[in-house]
Amino acid sequence: MTSAGFPRVPPCPPWYKLLILTTGSTEATGECINLALTRSSSEFDNRFVAESTVTRQDLRSPVLRRSFRKPYPVAVRGEGVYIWDADGNRYLDFSGSAAVNFIGHGVREIADAMLEQARQFEFVHTSQFTTPVVEEFAAELLAFAGEHFRGGAVYFTCGGSESVETALKLARQYQVEIGQPTRYQVLSRNQSYHGSTLGALSVSGNKKRREIYLPMVREFAHVGIPYCYRCDFDCTDGCRNCGQQYAAELEQAIKAIKGEAAAFIFEPLSGATLGAVTPPPGYLESIAEICGRHGVLVIADEVMTGMGRTGRNFAVEHWQVAPDILVTAKGLSSGYAPLGAVIVAKKIVDAIAAGSGSFLHGFTYNAHPLSVAAGHAVLRRIQSQNLVDAADSGIAGTAGSALKTALESLRDLDVVGDVRGLGLLWGVEFVWDKKTKLSFPSERNFAGLIGLGCLRRGLLVYPMQGCVDGVSGDHLLIAPPAVITAEQIGWAVEQLRVAVKESS
Ligand SMILES: Cc1ncc(COP(=O)(O)O)c(C=O)c1O
Repeated sequence: MTSAGFPRVPPCPPWYKLLILTTGSTEATGECINLALTRSSSEFDNRFVAESTVTRQDLRSPVLRRSFRKPYPVAVRGEGVYIWDADGNRYLDFSGSAAVNFIGHGVREIADAMLEQARQFEFVHTSQFTTPVVEEFAAELLAFAGEHFRGGAVYFTCGGSESVETALKLARQYQVEIGQPTRYQVLSRNQSYHGSTLGALSVSGNKKRREIYLPMVREFAHVGIPYCYRCDFDCTDGCRNCGQQYAAELEQAIKAIKGEAAAFIFEPLSGATLGAVTPPPGYLESIAEICGRHGVLVIADEVMTGMGRTGRNFAVEHWQVAPDILVTAKGLSSGYAPLGAVIVAKKIVDAIAAGSGSFLHGFTYNAHPLSVAAGHAVLRRIQSQNLVDAADSGIAGTAGSALKTALESLRDLDVVGDVRGLGLLWGVEFVWDKKTKLSFPSERNFAGLIGLGCLRRGLLVYPMQGCVDGVSGDHLLIAPPAVITAEQIGWAVEQLRVAVKESS
């Protein structure tokens, strides 16, 4: 979408210069960018980068960072919902970094568990040994995943993308093991994100993250994704019935590839790409039924939604959907160590055990003892502190319900088009015009502006663009740790409100 027909974009606030560097949407010309930021006097004593000067020198580092156009504060400490930088500035982590931290920062017992493991031994290779910590954690994780995974097994990786790669290969191998070698395609949805490795990108629909790599990517069918605020079917009943139409599209796609579909992968709540979009009633149940009927495995990507984030152990439980493979990461270790897991139903494990006898896949660092020790301690913390319940937005008095209420209150702002989500995973979508749902011109990077306004107030959020069509559309992802208090939520949403007003 272009900016044609839009009123002139208001003049930039002084700190917008930083955003210009951040997004790279405009060529930065100054050698030295001065940021004169005001102090905010709140009860949280939020001193943020009061006076800071960013030079081109600061933008280079021996580290190949994510961006050459933005300065990065140096994080030195974390505790609860807060992170401090080397200058003593405090940030409230309202997005759990990138929906990673669930138990809070700086929990000592996790560090202790890792240290204890490291003192015994740091690493053994999975081709030679198993370890007590991995056996114990796998059993606990299977139980946490529910009855449906009884008799199944867990494959540990170092994160989400590795777990998705593993799931794709596992689905293919399963089909070969059961005598269905023509099945290799993995269907997925538009506007989804499953990771940054080439296999994971091939099943992702995030336009910006895929675009330049497309010549290197094997393409399978992508089907429509229910996005009720902008529903393809122009529903007038609040999207109570369109789920069946989206599900029918998947069935047609499966039929069209004539016996080549091995699996279908989906995020139960759309994560970063659409910003916590929840599925319409009956949709996921129909998806599972269709896949089962056609011999297509169901892979639930719960990298972002798993481990309690939505107020259930795994988000599929909201709809009583039982996937064949469930992929999780992020909250699994809450960021204390790189860790992902592929939780596999018994029928797949049995097929390999009774067939070729080995999974043809492996990473040197799969089931790394230190990461697994971290995950093990994190799960215990989640359970001992009842954090899944704390995340449940359907229970009065929880962090989840306080967050829902506070974010819903932003709907009165002219530019807030939609507030959606579940538990402690929420999206706030911004529009130029509420009536027509017209989004801002993408060059304005409205979400980025708000993100920067929040940062200036010591609030970390996750701004994204492209929810409308892969390019335009602005939203924030909000996913705080489950230890956040109602008071902290109130403060955070107030900062967000001011940042939105300033950017509008
Ligand atoms: C749903 C989903 N799947 C996969 C991934 C990739 O995970 P990672 O970044 O740990 O490789 C992400 C990351 O944001 C995600 O949100």
